[in-house]
Amino acid sequence: IQTDIPSVKDTVPFTLGTTVARATTLGEHGQLLTKHFESVTPGNALKWDATEPTEGQFVFTDPDYLVDYAQQNGLEFRGHTLAWHSQTPDWVFKDGDRALTSSPEDKALLLSRLENHIRTVVGRYKGKIKVWDVVNEVVDENQPDGMRRSPWFQITGYDFIRTAFRVAHEVDPAAKLVINDYNTEFPRKRVALFNLVKKLKAEGVPIHAVGHQLHMNIEQAPTAEVEKTIEYFAALGLDQQITELDISVYTDFVSSYTTVPAEVLALQGYRYKELFDVFRRQASRLSSVTIWGLADDSTWLSTFPITRLNPPLLFDDELQAKPAYWGVVDPA
Ligand code: XIL
Repeated sequence: IQTDIPSVKDTVPFTLGTTVARATTLGEHGQLLTKHFESVTPGNALKWDATEPTEGQFVFTDPDYLVDYAQQNGLEFRGHTLAWHSQTPDWVFKDGDRALTSSPEDKALLLSRLENHIRTVVGRYKGKIKVWDVVNEVVDENQPDGMRRSPWFQITGYDFIRTAFRVAHEVDPAAKLVINDYNTEFPRKRVALFNLVKKLKAEGVPIHAVGHQLHMNIEQAPTAEVEKTIEYFAALGLDQQITELDISVYTDFVSSYTTVPAEVLALQGYRYKELFDVFRRQASRLSSVTIWGLADDSTWLSTFPITRLNPPLLFDDELQAKPAYWGVVDPA
């Protein structure tokens, strides 16, 4: 890795984080991680399908490794995520072969599974994982009530959210509890999430921060809308975090390059600069900014939404600084 360039974390007035997909053999990626970042979110290791693939049988090999690594290297740790509709095993929403319904019995069963899961996972890392994405992607702005029709919502209504925050807070009262979602830079989604958080706060649900994923692309004119979102949510009096930032080089779901043109990487660098200008201006409202990956050799966008070359991060396949890196550290 390049050691003679500024550490990104030293150039920003908030905690800078990244995600790592694999738990083992961090090697050179570990050097890049500790030089430039001060927080880490596991990409998959704490999702339900990884931690409790079978009811009551927990697997903590990967998160244990990562949490230890973070502690030894002075990195903060973000837990991601406790209740989501994706990467959740089928058994969670079933009783044997039968799909759970919204009957009182089924609802109680699902909420007790959720409670047990959270007690076990949050309890294991109490005091070590200080921030949790408690619920992920629960909003659907196209529904009249703004709520995603996930099995969680269809079986329990709002109660899975209430239970998740209540139990996480009971188990680790010092942990910062986040409600996390994507597309919050778009006006309708912004309003739907805001209204949900406002309602839950009024009920006394212990939500401490709003997480904006911020999966962007190079064409999206992000600056003004992202800033509006941060200012809009400030009215809730809650901390905010950017939780999964990356900038796709595509503006649609079908294009595919064999090599990405230099001018596209330059434009991406400019987009990172614009965004970090916003984050620096809004630093009093943002406790952390997490970039969803260390380097372009490992990004979810190489398979989502289709398999294609898509380098969305600050460092390239060889772990070398890209225009995106310079856009962040040298915004002049
Ligand atoms: C992604 C991971 O990065 C991939 O490795 C995995 O295959 C799919 O999930 N929103 C989220 C993250 O909240 O958990 C997702 O992470 C990306 C979109």
